[in-house]
Amino acid sequence: MRAILLGPPGAGKGTQAETIVNEFKIPHVSTGDMFRKNIKEQTQLGKKVKSYLDKGALVPDELTVEIVKDRISQVDCKNGFLLDGFPRTLEQANALDNVLSELGQKLDYVINIEVDSKLLIDRAVGRRICKDCGQTYHLLFNKPTKEGVCDKCGGELYQRKDDTEETVANRINVYQNQTQPLIEYYTNKGCIININGEQSIDKVSRDIISNLRGE
Ligand code: AP5
Ligand code: MG
Ligand code: ZN
Repeated sequence: MRAILLGPPGAGKGTQAETIVNEFKIPHVSTGDMFRKNIKEQTQLGKKVKSYLDKGALVPDELTVEIVKDRISQVDCKNGFLLDGFPRTLEQANALDNVLSELGQKLDYVINIEVDSKLLIDRAVGRRICKDCGQTYHLLFNKPTKEGVCDKCGGELYQRKDDTEETVANRINVYQNQTQPLIEYYTNKGCIININGEQSIDKVSRDIISNLRGE
């Protein structure tokens, strides 16, 4: 299965990706995670993209398309993958179409997680992530058993640098201006699945899985 997770910042893409990739045994390809890893490791790419992530602006298409192209051409993506946070512009969507046709592959689904803007700031600002295993929590909606500590591995939880109220507001703006047009783009292609993301994490997961299974 080749699928895309689409949705505004804080909609639950990363949270739902975990369930989907476990269910369908495909790699999770998150451009945000790849950029953050490069920033942490201070690679050439990391140095180029850091200022964009800090501001909540989009990384230029050339850089973004390049890393996705490299990633989905790898052998573990041969039988499918889940893209999270890519494409985010019409240019990126066109580039993906071209890469897939070069690889002789076809996109199956675009899962569009719908959440009202009013809820997004609280979701992002309350998010905490494990520094060791990357597991995501929320201070109110998905609490770890022990404050500040990961349930899965005991690692320390941290807050993403771009999860301040101001930067999240900017990210929402960027989403509305540059990414939202993709909903129409993929609706016209007939592969979109709209999911109500304002339900519990478990209910959203169930809705996604049953749609993907065609139930
Ligand atoms: P990226 O990392 O992709 O961030 P984003 O799109 O802003 O999305 P988030 O990761 O913030 O939210 P999410 O939908 O994954 O939510 P989550 O599941 O964590 O991108 C970061 C930056 O990288 C961009 O700003 C840009 O600079 C750059 N970038 C990345 N891709 C790019 C591209 N293609 N082109 C150019 N630049 C790019 O959930 C959020 C919180 O809510 C969590 O705490 C979670 O526990 C909680 N939660 C989840 N679901 C629910 C629920 N149903 N009910 C209650 N709480 C919930
Ligand atoms: Mg995410
Ligand atoms: Zn952990």
